[in-house]
Amino acid sequence: MKPHITIVIKPTLFCNIDCKHCYHTPEERVKGEISIERVEKLIRMASEEYQTAWFIWHGGEPLTLPMSFYKQVMALEEKYFGKNSMRYGNTINTNGILLNKRFMAYCREKKINIGVSYEGPCNGILRAEDVEKTLRTMSDKDNKYSVGATISKESASRQREIYEYFREKDISVSLSPVIGAGCGGPYVPDTDEFVKGSIEAYDKWFYDKTVRVPLMPFYQYIMNYLGEPFPSDCAHTSCLTKWLCMYPDGSLYPCAKACPKSFCMGNIDDIDTIAEAFQTEGFGNILAGSIERRDKCASCEIFKYCNGGCSVDACYENGLENNGGASCEAYKAIFSHVAGSIQRILDEEPDLDEFNPFVKEAVISKLINPKTVSH
Ligand SMILES: C[S@@+](CC[C@H](N)C(=O)[O-])C[C@H]1O[C@@H](n2cnc3c(N)ncnc32)[C@H](O)[C@@H]1O
Ligand code: SF4
Ligand code: SF4
Repeated sequence: MKPHITIVIKPTLFCNIDCKHCYHTPEERVKGEISIERVEKLIRMASEEYQTAWFIWHGGEPLTLPMSFYKQVMALEEKYFGKNSMRYGNTINTNGILLNKRFMAYCREKKINIGVSYEGPCNGILRAEDVEKTLRTMSDKDNKYSVGATISKESASRQREIYEYFREKDISVSLSPVIGAGCGGPYVPDTDEFVKGSIEAYDKWFYDKTVRVPLMPFYQYIMNYLGEPFPSDCAHTSCLTKWLCMYPDGSLYPCAKACPKSFCMGNIDDIDTIAEAFQTEGFGNILAGSIERRDKCASCEIFKYCNGGCSVDACYENGLENNGGASCEAYKAIFSHVAGSIQRILDEEPDLDEFNPFVKEAVISKLINPKTVSH
C-alpha cells in the first residue's frame, strides 16, 4: 500500500454566489451533483491502495448539497477505512453562506474540518455576499473553522489587516493570491505588492507574543525550513502523485485548481484502481512539463523547499515548462524572508520570548532534536 493521498471531491460545480475571481467560470458553475456511486468507488479504491487518505470537499459550493449527502459519505468512509481507524479525515472548503449550527455540530461529531473562504475586512472586494452574518448566528462552541483568504490586486497591501482581523478572533488564516485562471485574470495581485503585504503580515505575526493561531502558509514555510515538512499540504511545492481531484461527472484531475483539459486523468467510471489514473496521458502531460520546469530550477538555492512550485500556477503564468512567473518570484522573496528570520534566531540565539509561541516551539524542537537538516 502507498502511504497517503489527498483526494479533492467537487460534488457539484454549482455555486450559490458569484465571486469575481473564481477560476470556475459562471458557465461551468451549473447545477449537477456527483452520484454517490462515484464517491463510493473512489473511497473504496483509496482504502485499498493507500494507508491513509484525506478528503477535501470543494466545488462549486459543497454545502449546496444536503447534509444527508455527507452522512452517506461518512458511512462509506467508516465502511471502507474502518470506523475510528484514524486512516481518513475530511475538510469541507466552503464559502460559509449555508453553514448552520446543526451542520457545525455534525462536523464536530465527525471531526470534519471546516475551511471558510473569507477575506474579513476585504471580503467585499471579491465576494458579493458577506458570510459574517451567518457566522454571527453560531455559538462559540459551533464556530470552529479556519479561514482561507484569497488576496487580490486590491487587498495585496492589506494582508496585515486581514491577519489582525482574524487573529483577534483566534481564527487561523491562510493567505494566497488570485491566479489568472477562469475569471481570475483581472484580480491577480502585483507581485511586488503581494510580497510586501505578505511580509508585513508575517512580521506582525512573528513578533506577536500572545497569538494563539498559526499564520499560513508562513508557519508551514518555517516547518519546512526547519526540516519538518507537512506531508499532505501542497502550498507551493510539488503535490504530483499525492493529490487527486474528482469532478461531478467523474472526470479526474491532478489538482483542485481549474486545470486545462489536457491534464484530465480519465474518468472514475473507466478505471479499477487509482494507480491507473496516474498512468494516463493527462497525468503524463502535467508530469513531463513539470519535470522540464524543475530541471530549469536546479540552480535555484531554495529548490529543495520549493521543488519547482505549483504546476497549475506555472501553467497560468509563464507556461507549465517555465519558472520565473509571479508565484516563483513571490515564493523566492517570501520564503527567503521567512528563512532569514529563522536562521537569525538559530545563529544569534536571542531570548525566544521575543517571538510568537509557534516560532518559539518550532525553534526549540529543532534545538532539542537537531537531526533535521542543518543550514
Ligand atoms: C473554488 S472555491 C470552492 C469551494 C467554495 N466554494 C469556496 O469558495 O471555498 C475554493 C477556493 O478557491 C479560491 N479561488 C477561486 N478562484 C481562484 C483564483 N482564480 N485564484 C486563486 N484562488 C481562487 C476561492 O477563493 C476559494 O477560497
Ligand atoms: S470561489 Fe467558491 S464561493 Fe466563490 S464563486 Fe467560486 S466556487 Fe463559488
Ligand atoms: S523559487 Fe522559482 S526557480 Fe526556485 S525552485 Fe521555486 S519555481 Fe524554481
